Amino acid sequence: MVKELVASSRSFRSFDESKVFTAKELETLVDTARFSSSAANRQPLKYKICVDKAEVEKLLSLTKWAGFLPDLNLPPEGHHPTAFIVICHDTSVCPETKYSAVDVGIAAQTIMLAACEGGYGGCMIGAFDPDAVSDALRLSLKYRPVLLLALGIPDEMVFITEIGKDGDTKYFRDKMGIHYVPKRSLESVLID
Ligand SMILES: Cc1cc2nc3c(=O)[nH]c(=O)nc-3n(C[C@H](O)[C@H](O)[C@H](O)COP(=O)(O)O)c2cc1C
Repeated sequence: MVKELVASSRSFRSFDESKVFTAKELETLVDTARFSSSAANRQPLKYKICVDKAEVEKLLSLTKWAGFLPDLNLPPEGHHPTAFIVICHDTSVCPETKYSAVDVGIAAQTIMLAACEGGYGGCMIGAFDPDAVSDALRLSLKYRPVLLLALGIPDEMVFITEIGKDGDTKYFRDKMGIHYVPKRSLESVLID
């Protein structure tokens, strides 16, 4: 069921580091994403797969996680993601437009759903400096990093919850460290 897959595919910020990916494993995720819809079918997105530990740690150091939980240092030491897929816009295919961001979202969600189906999980990361990522990976200037997908085997619990009366959509954690993600109700997202 697509609905169940989407509901299971949460943002995870703690991982079992004993699971190391091969580039081939992650290629299967990209192989699924490449069938995604694309504005004018231009398909400007290219993907850099990173599984080397030093490279993953370097990328991790360039990212910011869980801005609503500033007291927590996520992902925790010893629970880092073990791979990244860097979604890049290939400017030699076409310039970035408002539609390329839509392509990125579709591709990112497709990869995260495929990862979830395969027993992995992760977190989309938009909080990074594209130039720093480009330098770290020695990417050609034509590739503009637009979204990072941190991946691994999640070792934390994340649940969807209802939004309270105060209407606050911020995610939060309880004393046990369980992460809750408030989602708007069906009624509240339907326009009369
Ligand atoms: C485009 C995009 C960028 C995001 N960037 C970050 C980020 O930089 N750091 C982070 O910890 N989470 C990031 N997230 C994850 C969101 O915080 C997360 O989707 C949100 O809290 C809802 O949780 P859920 O994905 O489990 O539904 C990003 C999500 C999206 C869609």
